[in-house]
Amino acid sequence: MCGIVGYVGNASGRANATHGALDVVLEGLRRLEYRGYDSAGVAVVAEGSISSRKKSGKLSNLLDELEEHPLPGSLTGIGHTRWATHGGPTDRNAHPHLADGGKLAVIHNGIIENFAELKQELLAKGVEFASETDTEVAAALLGDIFRNKLKGGADGGLTKAMQLACQRLEGAFTLLAVHADQPDVVVAARRNSPLVVGLGEGENFLGSDVSGFIDYTRKAVELGQDQIVTITSDSVDITDFFGAPAVGKEYTVDWDPASAEKGGYASFMEKEIHDQPDAVAQTLLGRSDARGHLILDELRIDPQLLKQVDKIIVLACGTAAYAGLVAKYAIENWCRIPTEVELAHEFRYRDPIVNSKTLVVSISQSGETMDTLMAVRYAREQGALTVSICNTNGSTIPRESDAVLYTHAGPEIAVASTKAFLAQITAAYLFGLYLAQLRGNIFTGQIKDVLADLNKIPAKIQKILDSSTELRELARSMKDEKSVLFLGRHVGYPVALEGALKLKEIAYIHAEGFAAGELKHGPIALIEEGQPVFVVVPSPRGRDSLHSKVVSNIQEIRARGARTLVIAEEGDEAVRDYAEHVFYVPETPTLLMPLLTTVPLQLFALELASGKGYDVDQPRNLAKSVTVE
Ligand code: G6P
Repeated sequence: MCGIVGYVGNASGRANATHGALDVVLEGLRRLEYRGYDSAGVAVVAEGSISSRKKSGKLSNLLDELEEHPLPGSLTGIGHTRWATHGGPTDRNAHPHLADGGKLAVIHNGIIENFAELKQELLAKGVEFASETDTEVAAALLGDIFRNKLKGGADGGLTKAMQLACQRLEGAFTLLAVHADQPDVVVAARRNSPLVVGLGEGENFLGSDVSGFIDYTRKAVELGQDQIVTITSDSVDITDFFGAPAVGKEYTVDWDPASAEKGGYASFMEKEIHDQPDAVAQTLLGRSDARGHLILDELRIDPQLLKQVDKIIVLACGTAAYAGLVAKYAIENWCRIPTEVELAHEFRYRDPIVNSKTLVVSISQSGETMDTLMAVRYAREQGALTVSICNTNGSTIPRESDAVLYTHAGPEIAVASTKAFLAQITAAYLFGLYLAQLRGNIFTGQIKDVLADLNKIPAKIQKILDSSTELRELARSMKDEKSVLFLGRHVGYPVALEGALKLKEIAYIHAEGFAAGELKHGPIALIEEGQPVFVVVPSPRGRDSLHSKVVSNIQEIRARGARTLVIAEEGDEAVRDYAEHVFYVPETPTLLMPLLTTVPLQLFALELASGKGYDVDQPRNLAKSVTVE
């Protein structure tokens, strides 16, 4: 949610950087555009003043604007790509926002909760505002402190001004500021919103995440909560909001820029769907020690505490919450611990019963989703143990959790999550097995059997991807549908929910997922002649009644005129008579089936949305990383 880039250094030596800082900033924005694409803007410090351009709409609009009205070459620059919160997505509300007579430029990700009160104060001092944003209030406050309180920086520079401003701000924010009087410096602050530093040679970077500078360096520094960082071309200084020095944790990014490119596919989403065999395989790699004991990536608590857990609550949002639903089936099955799944934003507002024997498992691709982060913090405050399943190394949620299991899906750029979902489910299985082993619920031999089945999954996903022609043709033929329903039972239920979500997100078609058993309690009233319904069928080799009940559901809707589109296991002949189309997935134990049955539904949504000519990577109104509540 909002992408932020900052740069100081002599970039002009690079083959692809003829305009210095601006080229680096624009490249960073290109990579961060998935975080928000309502508007984009840049500012550079050159020739003793700030020059800025901003434009509503996608980054391409800003690039056109820069063609028409170029900016001067510079060593220092900042850039922003926006997902609107306060104020519509107009040119005026786009960042950067200027203050201190145009000498200060500020960009922001997050929400300043006390902006109205601060605005009144500043209006009373005669400050004028050009936009409806909370960001401009932060800029004006910073400008006022720099100019009036610090006497134009004479009593301390932009860093000091940022410290004083942050002491007054409430809410969530990453702020970046440049000032014409300090042309070689970018100052940034973070509270509850993401920010990382990139370390270069004779240059340094800031980004909402590492993709903002991955083309230039893989050396990164994590910033802590309530910290301020000042970068120049050869220094990085970190303090807290009161000026006390702080140290960031340095790490090396383990993916290369090529993995964040489309690699010949028409969209990131298509590429990421095809990355899935690898995402699952990577997530499974290196998970056990020499004794066959499963291991977590980071464990900051005594494993004995995990043995005493008597309740698990899985917290997540969006697609990750559906991975959580799959996790519930697996964890309860293997660990015999009551497991609830809850949307993170609902959790803390219902006064949940949480204590030191409660284990909260959060699932988040980005590790920055504000709703999830706040729920995890709340759970910790109540004394719960917290484990994070996350795809982003060094992000806030895993940093604040007691233990971490990273999914190794690589960078996911398309807003609608695909490969991260399968990697989250894989990691959830691993965590369930870990816990079951630790608590002695299952034997190492049984774990080996499940791991062996899991290790066969990547090749099976590949098989589905390689034989998707009929499904794709069907999707293209259905582009004018107004509504598609999805049914599933047991672990097929979250798959149905995810199939519906994908279609809503990228094809803007009304879609709903139901538990197949719930059909007769209401949703069956929606079925009329020609209504398309996907049905996710469990393995006929699993619990006997489960399969036959779902087959009955198919018959019931078929009898009422539905077009039945069935996802079933290879060899399941029982579904054929009632299905308009059957899409087979390779055999696998029922519990693991979501890793396969999800894939046709992702491909269906992708193909249908592409057929409608939509931008599947950047669907309307959405942002990948939702860093506001
Ligand atoms: C947004 C994205 C979804 C994602 C959800 C949770 O809504 O559009 O694709 O599933 O956030 O994101 P997280 O990073 O926490 O997994």
